[in-house]
Amino acid sequence: MSYAEVYSAWKSDPEGFWMREAEKIDWDRKPSQALTRTGDNLYAWFADGMVNTCWNAVDRHVEAGRGDQVAIIHDSPITGTKREISYAELRDRVATLAGALRARGVGKGDRVIIYMSMVPEALEAMLACARLGAIHSVVFGGFAAHELAVRIDDARPKAIIAASCGIEPGRIVHYKPLLDSAIDQAVHKPDFCVILQREAAPAELTPDRDVDWHEVQQGAEPADCAPVEGDHPAYILYTSGTTGAPKGVVRPTGGHLVALHWSMKNIYNVDPGEVFWAASDVGWVVGHSYICYAPLIHGNTTIVFEGKPVGTPDAGTFWRVIEEHKVRSFFTAPTAFRAVKREDPKGEYLKKYDLSNLRAIYLAGERADPDTIEWTHEMTGKPVYDHWWQTESGWPMVANPVGIEAMEVKIGSPTVAMPGYEIHILADDGTPKPAGELGAIAIKLPLPPGTLPTLWNAPERFEKSYLAHFPGYYETGDAGMMDEDGYLWIMARTDDVINVAGHRLSTGGMEEVLASHPDVAECAVIGVKDELKGQLPMGFVCLTKGVNREPAEIEKECVALVRDRIGPVAAFKLCKVVDRLPKTRSGKILRRTMASIADGEDFKLPATIDDPAILDEIREGTSAMGYPRKLGEPV
Ligand code: COA
Ligand code: AMP
Repeated sequence: MSYAEVYSAWKSDPEGFWMREAEKIDWDRKPSQALTRTGDNLYAWFADGMVNTCWNAVDRHVEAGRGDQVAIIHDSPITGTKREISYAELRDRVATLAGALRARGVGKGDRVIIYMSMVPEALEAMLACARLGAIHSVVFGGFAAHELAVRIDDARPKAIIAASCGIEPGRIVHYKPLLDSAIDQAVHKPDFCVILQREAAPAELTPDRDVDWHEVQQGAEPADCAPVEGDHPAYILYTSGTTGAPKGVVRPTGGHLVALHWSMKNIYNVDPGEVFWAASDVGWVVGHSYICYAPLIHGNTTIVFEGKPVGTPDAGTFWRVIEEHKVRSFFTAPTAFRAVKREDPKGEYLKKYDLSNLRAIYLAGERADPDTIEWTHEMTGKPVYDHWWQTESGWPMVANPVGIEAMEVKIGSPTVAMPGYEIHILADDGTPKPAGELGAIAIKLPLPPGTLPTLWNAPERFEKSYLAHFPGYYETGDAGMMDEDGYLWIMARTDDVINVAGHRLSTGGMEEVLASHPDVAECAVIGVKDELKGQLPMGFVCLTKGVNREPAEIEKECVALVRDRIGPVAAFKLCKVVDRLPKTRSGKILRRTMASIADGEDFKLPATIDDPAILDEIREGTSAMGYPRKLGEPV
């Protein structure tokens, strides 16, 4: 079948399409129907089925006689270690860990926060939760204690599973003090914490609260897989929205299994037994879907890579891993290739490696700029496929369905809508935009299996953020256009979310932190273009009347405050004290105009601007920080 035939088969019978795909999953009780309406514009998939994610990701492959196949390869250039875990071993390890958690009272529906580095134990912890029907919430290691505390108070976990440390090039990130501080700051306290001691920096355990990863499992009775309802939450993953309060995206169990399974062959074009590698982090949705769940559900070998694209030890790391582990499909964020290109523009490292097993490279997480796509394609000789999705969807919304049919690549477009997604470009008033015209990207409801049914603890926020603006549609937060051939072109975010090195961050969240500085009266954070990371946050602060301190000192404190409260991942290093912020006459800060100034782009002076003279001060401020940058200038 061609892509057009598959897409129209879905469109003419969406429920039948997904019921057929659901056959590929082992159910304890098959769902009697695909879709259930649970409210106005609210839906659940496979709600009356009973199923277990861990069974489908691990045990069933062992039962099918594939227990000896490698399930996880841990390749850690940062510690100089490599390790392989077979499906049979993984089943035993996960069952024992699940048994240990169960013995301490963790059961179906309980939340467990996971705060770990890129080690296989992070996947084991996720799968152990899934085995029990517990709901995990993985928090990225680059977030600070405060961000962890916010998530603890929202998810109210019974337990936290943490590594003693993470290892970044040139420094050890001690997670245990961050964990302690987060628990201190949070109102909710977990019953217990399981600590995985890493050799690089073991931590002192807190008495009566912490248990050692290995000790807690000694003598534990292995746990069987507990079936859960198809719409039971598999996990919560917090992501950035407009404010500092992150959104807890809920992932439903049944739809997650069915959709991820579908995506592995149809999009990533791998067969069971082949090696699939997503170079991301388990703290992000890419890590959840394509380091942990999808490859395992589909019976592939997945790679947990603990390193960076450059510097661990060099710009040849990606190619070495691809050769050594015979990777068939490789997925990362464009920023990673920009980093490699900067260090090795002529591909000298690449020449040392044999990439003959590799079929294709997939990019997502941020805009894939044509230069990066072309460079990667030229250097590797492999097809490079951009694809578009987000934490909320959990799997690609728009992609090149290579396993069905490799469609023509139009550089700059992530290609076409996947089955399940009916994509529309809408004007602000909800009227459809014709082909080639820019508008808000919205998806006709219901969304397909695997996508978010709601936000944890925040059903009203879910409706307000995603459903209210365009009745009958899901609002993606991205703007773009569709061409005559149905190819989508992503242009920008419509909200205050920025994308820094493929990491989704909220400028509103950073503004909340800056506003908490005692000398700051008002502030604005914008995203400016960056050659390596795609975007970087840039802050402007106005001081409280009467503050007479050195501006440079306050700027430094602001930078430190964001690092301390949000974390190093925010990469907030640009901050300037200004007298005033440009505003409309009604008092709205003109962030977009400020960003155009910082990027050196032409812009139309907003008709409603209160005092255009303030823009000169912003221009001076950005220029003092070295912006706009000329293309090709060192970052
Ligand atoms: N734990 C603790 N700190 C972390 C961390 C983690 N898991 N991940 C990143 N950080 C820290 C970094 O050490 C860095 O700190 P610094 O300011 O002290 O240098 C900061 O957060 C910013 O990290 P990062 O955005 O990774 O920038 P970098 O300059 O260290 O590396 C790249 C740049 C491009 C090499 C890197 O961003 C990269 O590999 N990106 C791949 C993109 C990716 O995986 N995206 C996920 C979605 S697909
Ligand atoms: P996240 O939820 O962290 O995966 O971030 C999702 C957001 O990243 C999307 O809403 C887009 O703004 C952006 N994004 C992801 N993939 C792409 C892509 N291929 N092209 C352009 N932007 C993308």
